[in-house]
Amino acid sequence: MAALISGFSKLTKTEKIDWLAQNFLQNTKEAKEILRTYWNSDEKLQQLHDDFIENTISNFYMPYGIAPNFMINGNHYTIPMAIEESSVVAAASLVAKFWSNKGGFTAKVINTVKVGQVHFMYQGSKADLERYFSAKKDELYRATKDITKNMEKRGGGILDIELRDITSHLENYYQLHVTFETVDSMGANFINSCLEAMANVFKNNEVEIVMSILSNYVPECLVKASVSCHVDDLHPTDGALFAKKMEQAVAIANVEPHRAVTHNKGVMNGIDAVVIATGNDFRAIEAGVHAYAAKSGKYKSLTKCQIKDDVFTFSIEIPLALGTVGGLTSTHPLSKLSLEILGNPSAKELMQIIAVAGLAQNYAALRALTTTGIQEGHMKMHLVNILNQLEADAEEKEKVTLAMKGKTVSYSGVVAALEKVRA
Ligand code: MEV
Repeated sequence: MAALISGFSKLTKTEKIDWLAQNFLQNTKEAKEILRTYWNSDEKLQQLHDDFIENTISNFYMPYGIAPNFMINGNHYTIPMAIEESSVVAAASLVAKFWSNKGGFTAKVINTVKVGQVHFMYQGSKADLERYFSAKKDELYRATKDITKNMEKRGGGILDIELRDITSHLENYYQLHVTFETVDSMGANFINSCLEAMANVFKNNEVEIVMSILSNYVPECLVKASVSCHVDDLHPTDGALFAKKMEQAVAIANVEPHRAVTHNKGVMNGIDAVVIATGNDFRAIEAGVHAYAAKSGKYKSLTKCQIKDDVFTFSIEIPLALGTVGGLTSTHPLSKLSLEILGNPSAKELMQIIAVAGLAQNYAALRALTTTGIQEGHMKMHLVNILNQLEADAEEKEKVTLAMKGKTVSYSGVVAALEKVRA
């Protein structure tokens, strides 16, 4: 067991690695080599990455791929995706191409309102608190003037400040529920700074501030995307049956949370990949989207499927609080590149693109699940991954791939096939 260490953050990177190797790693030489292999040879770029977080000792790469042929609201996009899971980018590309021949995706931002709250305890009379709030409201706005000045120039700022009584759920608990427009920035720092400034002027002997923080539940920062076509255009032989199965798949996810979680995980395969590639906060998006999926009190599908007069419509409605300026979006070279690939979109346009990526991914998953099964698509990449793990060379890979054709890919099966080739 390693001894506790103090002053760790003050050690140099090499000293941190030495400490780690001595205390936790078996083959210290090899471990140090692995960490160094992932350092960037461009020192300035490495320093940039070192400075993103604390105690950086290396970089953790993720594959960065692109899915071309997306048509959204009549415009063509190639969507960058950062994801480690095989088949996701391929599925996105296939679905994009499929729908681009049928008018493409339609997407619309419904609203962009973001939320922050000052949570506080108050034991006095509610009427007194309401009077105090009314008297203080202007001062709350004034307290944030320096922070909101620039945001207001860009068309954003504080939309409203509301006093909310939550005492029926928790004794003495009230909040200032504040709504914001943050235009093209995700706005986390802006919102939190505003809230802390408000809390400072709102607190008194009776108002006991507990915390001030933005909410990642943003049901009013909403975007909708859909695709639609005649059922006959969905499938070469039996479009009506295919459409029905898709409808049933969504219906199952609406009544069965076990399935809904996996269904929505497929949606998030597309969403997270673009959120990460554009330098946005995927934990915030994940938390907000899943809460939205459970807004009725039951966890349900994020997508909808409708067949009406032989027209199939597949759609999604999700909250996405995104930014295209500030934070990592403006500092990580690959995030900047991703945004450039997307034509430097506004936050609203990015909401539309990312909603489409989620919808496309869900369409691909349900199409596979209700027809061939999911494994067919996964097997090819699974085989490549196993062969890489077994350090097969190019010739061995080719021979094993041929030998495995039509067979279910399992680790032991691939080992056996490779042994045969090597023999
Ligand atoms: C795998 O990453 C995602 C799926 O499980 C989604 C789904 O089941 O709908 C294929």
